[in-house]
Amino acid sequence: MLQQTVFLLALVAQGLTLENGLLRTPPMGWLAWERFRCNIHCDEDPKNCISERLFMEMADRLAQDGWRDLGYVYLNIDDCWIGGRDDKGRLVPDSKRFPRGIAFLADYVTPPLGLRGSLILSLEPLWYILDPQAHSLGLKLGIYEDMGNMTCMGFPGTTLDTVELDAQTFAGWKVDMLKMDGCFSTSEERAQGYPKMSAALNATGRPIAFSCSWPAYEGGLPPKVNYTLLANICNLWRNYDDIQDSWNSVLSILDWFVKHQDILQPLAGPGHWNDPDMLLIGNFGLSFEESRSQMALWTMLAAPLFMSTDLRTITPQNMDILQNPLMIKINQDPLGIQGRRIYEDEYQIEVYKRPLTNEASALVFFSRRTDMPYHFHTSLAKLNFPRAKVYDAQNIFSGEIISGLWSENNFTVVINPSGVVMWYLNPVKNMDISETMYQL
Ligand SMILES: *[C@@H]1O[C@H](CO)[C@@H](O)[C@H](O)[C@H]1NC(C)=O
Ligand SMILES: *[C@@H]1O[C@H](CO)[C@@H](O)[C@H](O)[C@H]1NC(C)=O
Ligand SMILES: *[C@@H]1O[C@H](CO)[C@@H](O)[C@H](O)[C@H]1NC(C)=O
Ligand SMILES: *[C@@H]1O[C@H](CO)[C@@H](O)[C@H](O)[C@H]1NC(C)=O
Repeated sequence: MLQQTVFLLALVAQGLTLENGLLRTPPMGWLAWERFRCNIHCDEDPKNCISERLFMEMADRLAQDGWRDLGYVYLNIDDCWIGGRDDKGRLVPDSKRFPRGIAFLADYVTPPLGLRGSLILSLEPLWYILDPQAHSLGLKLGIYEDMGNMTCMGFPGTTLDTVELDAQTFAGWKVDMLKMDGCFSTSEERAQGYPKMSAALNATGRPIAFSCSWPAYEGGLPPKVNYTLLANICNLWRNYDDIQDSWNSVLSILDWFVKHQDILQPLAGPGHWNDPDMLLIGNFGLSFEESRSQMALWTMLAAPLFMSTDLRTITPQNMDILQNPLMIKINQDPLGIQGRRIYEDEYQIEVYKRPLTNEASALVFFSRRTDMPYHFHTSLAKLNFPRAKVYDAQNIFSGEIISGLWSENNFTVVINPSGVVMWYLNPVKNMDISETMYQL
C-alpha cells in the first residue's frame, strides 16, 4: 500500500513539472544585468555598453579562463538589446550595438551546427581546417524579453498577440534560454502570457530553458502565486526583489527566502528552481567575507549561479570563490534538494543544512555579527543529526578535513563577522558503532 502510494506520488510529481529535459541542476553562467544594467552609451563607454562586443568578450573569458569547464555555460543577455520590430513584426536587436544580429552571437558562443551530434564529432579537427575562423566556445546563449507592453527599461515587450512570433524568432536565432520579465502588464495578462510563452517555446521544437519573473510581480507567495503551475511551465523563477550591489540587499533576499522556507524549499528540484537572483561577487558592494557568504548561502539554496561581473578584470581572489570545485559540486548535486536554515540563536549565528547524494550533506555556519570572529560551540547531534554516526568533514574554503567526527563530538567553528564556515559532510560507513562509541 505504502509502496503503491509512493509510486503514484512519483508519477504525479513527474506530471507536474516542465518536461523539456533542461536544467536538471541549477543553471550556471553569466548574466549582464546587475553589473552592466542598461548602459547603452557605446560612444562614451564602448567597452562596457550592452553590445555584441561585451557579450563576445565575456564569452571568450568564460571559455578561456576555466569557467565553462566548471559548468558556467550560459551567457545571458538582459534588457536593452532590442532595436524594435521589423515590417513583419519580428523583434530585431539594436542595429548599432548588435550589427551582426543575435543569430551571429549564438553561433559565436555555441558549437557550430553539425558539430553537436556525436556521429560527426570525429570530424571536428577537419572542420577547423575547412574554416579556421569558426568559433566553438561550447557555451549557450540566453536572451531577455518582457511579458507586457514594454520591457522594464522601455524597449518593445512581448504582448499576448506576439508570444508565438517571438518564441519562433528566438528559436530561429538558436537561443538556449529565455528570461521573461513582467513589467508593464496586468496580473491577468501575465496569467495568460507565461503559460502561453511556455507552450510556444515548446512548439518551436528547440529546447529553450524558461526563466519566469512572474512570481516576483505577484508577491512571490501562495495563494496569489500558484507554484504548481509554475513548475509546470518554467525551469526557474524569480520569487522576490532584484538584487543590488550591497550586503544589505543580499541579507534582505536571504531573510525573505528563510522566512518563507517552509513554502519555498519544497518547490525546488531538477528542472525547476527558485532564483534568489545574481551573484554580486567581483563587484563593488561586498567584502571578502560577504562574497564567500553569498556564494555559500546561494549554494545552500540550490540557487542558479549567474555571475554578473566583469570577467575581464576579476581578481584571482574572487575567481577562487566562484571557481571552488567542491562548492560547485554541492550547488550542482543531482538530487537538487534545496537547503534550509536549521538553527539560529540570540548571538546572531545561523546554521544551514543541505542534503546531498550518498547521504552526504553540506553545512554552513553563518555569522551576522559585526564585532569579531565568533567561537561557536556545537555538535552534529545538537544540530539534529542522527546519534552515534561518524563523519568526515571537509572545510570547503580551506580544504582541511576533520576525520572521524562523531555526532556527539563537541566542536568549535570560528566564524568571521558576516562570514561563513562551510563543511561537506560525508558519513563514514561500516563502523562498529556500539563498541567504539564509548571509547570517545
Ligand atoms: C498596454 O497598452 C495598451 C494599448 O496601448 C493599453 O490599453 C494598456 O493599458 C497597456 N497596459 C499596461 C499594463 O500598461
Ligand atoms: C514539449 O513538451 C513535451 C511534452 O511535455 C515534451 O515531451 C517535449 O520534450 C517538449 N519539447 C521541447 C522542445 O521542449
Ligand atoms: C494551480 O495550478 C495547477 C496546475 O495548473 C492546478 O491544477 C491547480 O488547480 C491550481 N491551484 C489553484 C489553487 O488554483
Ligand atoms: C558536549 O557538551 C555537552 C554540553 O554542551 C556535554 O553535556 C557533553 O558531555 C559533551 N560531549 C562530549 C562527547 O564531550
